[in-house]
Amino acid sequence: MKYNILILGNLNNCKNAFKKIDLDLIDSLAFITNEMDSRNKWFADKNNFLTDDIKELDFDFIFVAAGKFQEFRKFKNQLLDQGIKEEKIWYNFDVDTFNLRLKGFRKYNSGTLKYKKDFFMEEKPAANQMNLDFNSMNKLEQYFYCNKGKTIHKFLHYFEIYDRHFSRFIGKDVAVLEIGVSKGGSLELWRHYFGCKSKIYGSDIDPKCKKLESEQIEIFIGDAEDREFLRSLKEKIPRIDIVIDDGGHYMNQQIVAFEELYPFISPDGVYLCEDVMTSYMEAYGGGYRRKNSFIEYSKNLIDYLNAWYSKEKSWLSRKKLNVDEFTLSTHSMHYYNNVLVIEKRKIDPPFAAMIGNRDI
Ligand SMILES: C[S@@+](CC[C@H](N)C(=O)[O-])C[C@H]1O[C@@H](n2cnc3c(N)ncnc32)[C@H](O)[C@@H]1O
Repeated sequence: MKYNILILGNLNNCKNAFKKIDLDLIDSLAFITNEMDSRNKWFADKNNFLTDDIKELDFDFIFVAAGKFQEFRKFKNQLLDQGIKEEKIWYNFDVDTFNLRLKGFRKYNSGTLKYKKDFFMEEKPAANQMNLDFNSMNKLEQYFYCNKGKTIHKFLHYFEIYDRHFSRFIGKDVAVLEIGVSKGGSLELWRHYFGCKSKIYGSDIDPKCKKLESEQIEIFIGDAEDREFLRSLKEKIPRIDIVIDDGGHYMNQQIVAFEELYPFISPDGVYLCEDVMTSYMEAYGGGYRRKNSFIEYSKNLIDYLNAWYSKEKSWLSRKKLNVDEFTLSTHSMHYYNNVLVIEKRKIDPPFAAMIGNRDI
């Protein structure tokens, strides 16, 4: 299959998006762009053009080549207001997914799960039409692949990670907070997974999400980068055992949410931050080895996990690493592809022993 594709955005972003689109997928290609340097200026100037004209043109897909996700969202909303269907609108950062999806990819990283048939080309595939082996799925995957309710948006390999760290809470009186709830599907997934004794809290910057409240599910509206908002959350929620950060994915948001919420999590709880890929993306304030990225920030936590063993001052900074609250309350840090999980547990000073009777 080949498609008529429109790319709009500033010239450099358009060029970059174009370079990445698989040529086999292109029947015709159009650009709406300009030669200006400042992408903000471009977006401001083209506002009117967009609302007037695009609806007249018949494209299979439209790429919004925006520098930042907020810009993409603004333009996406304008396109939606014109009656353009959501599935036609793509963000330039998702070109790789676009290529794979449109080619009906057969192999991809989905943790333990295997399937044979094309998945995304079908409108609402039932799990049995995809030749999925139900027995190979965990409880989250079974729910996700059969979901006909509110939309859930997750990387497929996350389900294995969730199950690995969350399964011990199934059936318990567990309190879960998900930052970023979007269309509400994941909140229902968590309620199903943890069971009827669980309490699922969601928080989102979008006031429309308040409508997603239902049995066992409570929503708080606010910005996860705003410390005051997060502090007010802690006053309203009696206890949190699990935090899942799936919000805006900006560096500062991920760091602030961690700093405010991690100490509040119960002593054997779990903190999970997903989509840490943004630590490598300039549009989100990240970049490889960039000092203030969430991943770089988290690397310092590895030192505090091991602070027990630091006896001398650092040869570099001349400072000594001291055991702190993180050292005393953190059992382990787990780095996965695109996800960081931190498990809490009260930690006593480490003690090694030699037990046994035989020598060499
Ligand atoms: C990736 S979606 C969440 C998907 C959802 N958890 C799921 O699995 O289906 C990201 C959500 O984060 C919200 N968001 C973006 N920036 C935010 C911020 N600064 N604070 C709180 N929520 C934010 C967006 O409104 C959006 O609903």
